[in-house]
Amino acid sequence: MGEPSNNQDALEARIPPSCPASISQILTQAWHHDLASLKPLLDVPGRASVQEPTTGETPLHAAIRSCGAAAAATGATTTDLEAAKSVLEELFFNGAIWNDVDSNNETPGCVAVRLGQSELYDMCVGAGVRAELLFGLLEGYEELESMDEDDEEDEEIVDITADAAAGDGEEVPDLVVETNSEGHSTEKQPKKEEAKEAEEEETEILESNPDRAFVAPSAAEAQASQVDSAEYLRSNLTYSAGKLTDESANGVMMAWETSIMRASVDTLLPPEQQPEGRKVLNIGFGMGIIDGMFAVTKPARHHIIEAHPDVLAHIATSPDCPFGPAWENSAPQGQGEGAFKVHAGRWQDVVPKLLEAGETYDAIYFDTFGEDYAQLRMFFTEYVPGLLKEEGRFGFFNGLGADRQICYDVYTKVVEMHLSDAGMDVAWQEMNVDMQGLQEEGKGEWEGIKRRYWTLNSECPFLLLSCSNPIAHC
Ligand SMILES: C[S@@+](CC[C@H](N)C(=O)[O-])C[C@H]1O[C@@H](n2cnc3c(N)ncnc32)[C@H](O)[C@@H]1O
Repeated sequence: MGEPSNNQDALEARIPPSCPASISQILTQAWHHDLASLKPLLDVPGRASVQEPTTGETPLHAAIRSCGAAAAATGATTTDLEAAKSVLEELFFNGAIWNDVDSNNETPGCVAVRLGQSELYDMCVGAGVRAELLFGLLEGYEELESMDEDDEEDEEIVDITADAAAGDGEEVPDLVVETNSEGHSTEKQPKKEEAKEAEEEETEILESNPDRAFVAPSAAEAQASQVDSAEYLRSNLTYSAGKLTDESANGVMMAWETSIMRASVDTLLPPEQQPEGRKVLNIGFGMGIIDGMFAVTKPARHHIIEAHPDVLAHIATSPDCPFGPAWENSAPQGQGEGAFKVHAGRWQDVVPKLLEAGETYDAIYFDTFGEDYAQLRMFFTEYVPGLLKEEGRFGFFNGLGADRQICYDVYTKVVEMHLSDAGMDVAWQEMNVDMQGLQEEGKGEWEGIKRRYWTLNSECPFLLLSCSNPIAHC
């Protein structure tokens, strides 16, 4: 067992004497990596995710925290680490939630990263990826309205305790699944009576822990949970020096992202490949930073899709914006009608029309605001393959979960898998984001901005994908 990295990480601070005995017992065994004593305690669904009522400590937090800091010579041995890994494995197997936060607003993965426990961190990322993929599948699940009696006999109840992906602290409801021909299902399925018993025992635990005050952040919804798309599109926007904000002071677009836009354009249309005369589609105008860069490459066709009325008014009337009617009329000769065009409306409504019109592009960039990951996924799964030319490239602003390292890492992997499912080959690049002025909430670049939506202090992974032909990046 390593030394705690500071007093706040000490056992007495995390599992205080006021902790109900049933929770304290589980947390203490997890802390000491006593797998043999812990295992039987986890028989009841939900127990792998109990939380200390005041500190929010979960068994995962305890098992990681007790390892202490990896970098310092703390006395932690390889045996300790192996024991910790076995405990984490057992906890995840029993439905431990990867992204519950404690009273310090740290998930177990955040604790691992702070302590430099990279192997334990990787296990948290792996669990996060599995939970988010599962959540993605559940979202698409629809219960059939009727089924025959035989089917009904085959039903079993699955208790999915990993509400992790929901991100709102609510339990994912029981799910009815069909068993396969051998009577097994791919999920762990307690029988109905066992489930009932389990529920009663769990209620006991939860009653001693009445308010789950620590709400799990979801990588998928990290941005979207803050902003609702319809509400955003109704909200008044303000353009001011270096930023575009909505009426709740959310940063819609900020000038510090210019380096990311620059790298995006250079990857979509590499300067060494003479990008002149290409066909470009950008979804989400914002401050027009990326469109300005696309324009410099002298495209033959340049389409922009923008939904917000205030942004559209800015484009049409602001003397500072070069993408008004004069720009639309300045397209090179011989490129057909609407070669340079701002399409007003939500991409969900505009893109099907572009497909119908047979438009295809060499470069597509996607960067909207207030939409959840499901929308991005729908775009690259259902539309990109039809819109992209043979050697075309697709990219998007990779801000998924960018206010928390583990959420970012989980979503980087999830998105990669979904892109592969959509038939794209994926490779990653990384770039440095200059964090000067981005370090502190409400200060520097964040002054007057409600939420610091980017906290990653160095590397921004870049994605290179190819959809049997195209390459894209985010
Ligand atoms: C982050 S900004 C884009 C910034 C842009 N990349 C730049 O370089 O300035 C997002 C933009 O997407 C727009 N938007 C949001 N939802 C949209 C949707 N469903 N369809 C089209 N545009 C949308 C917003 O109004 C906003 O202008």
